[in-house]
Amino acid sequence: MKRILIKFSGEALAGENGFGIDTKILKYLADEIKSVVMEGFEVAVVIGGGNFIRGVSAAKDGIIRRTSGDYMGMLATIINAVAMQEALENDGLSVRVQSAIKVEEIAENFIVRKAIRHLEKKRVVIFAGGTGNPFFTTDTAAVLRASEIGASVIIKATKVDGIYDKDPMKFKDAKFLKELSYEEALKKHIKVMDDTAIALARENKLPIIVCNMFKKGNLLKILKNNPDAKYSIVKEI
Ligand code: GTP
Repeated sequence: MKRILIKFSGEALAGENGFGIDTKILKYLADEIKSVVMEGFEVAVVIGGGNFIRGVSAAKDGIIRRTSGDYMGMLATIINAVAMQEALENDGLSVRVQSAIKVEEIAENFIVRKAIRHLEKKRVVIFAGGTGNPFFTTDTAAVLRASEIGASVIIKATKVDGIYDKDPMKFKDAKFLKELSYEEALKKHIKVMDDTAIALARENKLPIIVCNMFKKGNLLKILKNNPDAKYSIVKEI
C-alpha cells in the first residue's frame, strides 16, 4: 500500500450550510493528508464538486441540460482542487493539479505519465475535472485515475465509519459490514459508491476502503494496519 488515491466528496469541504468551502475543514483534511505523505505514501486525491453544484440536481427541472449540469460540476471540482492545493502547500507539501478538461492557466492537463512522475517525486497529485465526460461521477473518476496510476487502494473518505447494511443514521439495528466482495457491494447497492465505480474497481481488482476521514488520525491508522482503525473494505474475496 505505497501509492494510494483518496476520494472526498465536495460536501466534505463545506461548512454547516453544506455550500462552499470552509477553510478550517480544508486545513484539517490537508493535515490528515500530510500525515500520510510524511509516512512515505504517494498520495493522489480526487474531490467531488457537490458543495457547489451537482449535474443531476442542476438538471432536475429541465431548464439546464444534464450534460451542461455535469460540465458545471466538473468546473466545481476544479475550484475544490485549487483550494486543496493551496491548503496542502500551506502545510509545506509539493502539489500538482491535473485537470481532465483544459484550464491551462489554472492547472496542468491530465497526463498519466506525468502524474506518475509527480507521485514518484513525492508530490501530491490532485485530479480535477472528473473523467472529463458528462454522465460519470467523481467516484468513477477516482477509480479510473487510481487504476491508471497503479494505486494499490482507493480510500473513499466519508463521514461514516464504513459500510452498513442499511442507513445507520435512520436504523438503530444497522449492521456494520467489515469486508465485502465487489459482487456483494453491487447486489446490496451500497450507498457510499455508485455501481459504475464499483464495477470498474472490480475489473481492475482495486480494493475500496470506506472510512471516516473526520476521526483524526484514522486514515494513517488504516494505512499502517493499526488494529484500532475502523473501516470497511470492498475487495476480491
Ligand atoms: P518536473 O518536470 O518534475 O520538474 O515537474 P514540474 O511540475 O516541477 O515542472 P514544470 O516545469 O512542468 O512545472 C512547473 C510549475 O508549473 C508547476 O507548479 C506546475 O504545476 C506548473 N505547470 C506545469 N504545466 C502547467 C500547465 O499546463 N498549466 C498550469 N497552469 N501550470 C502548469
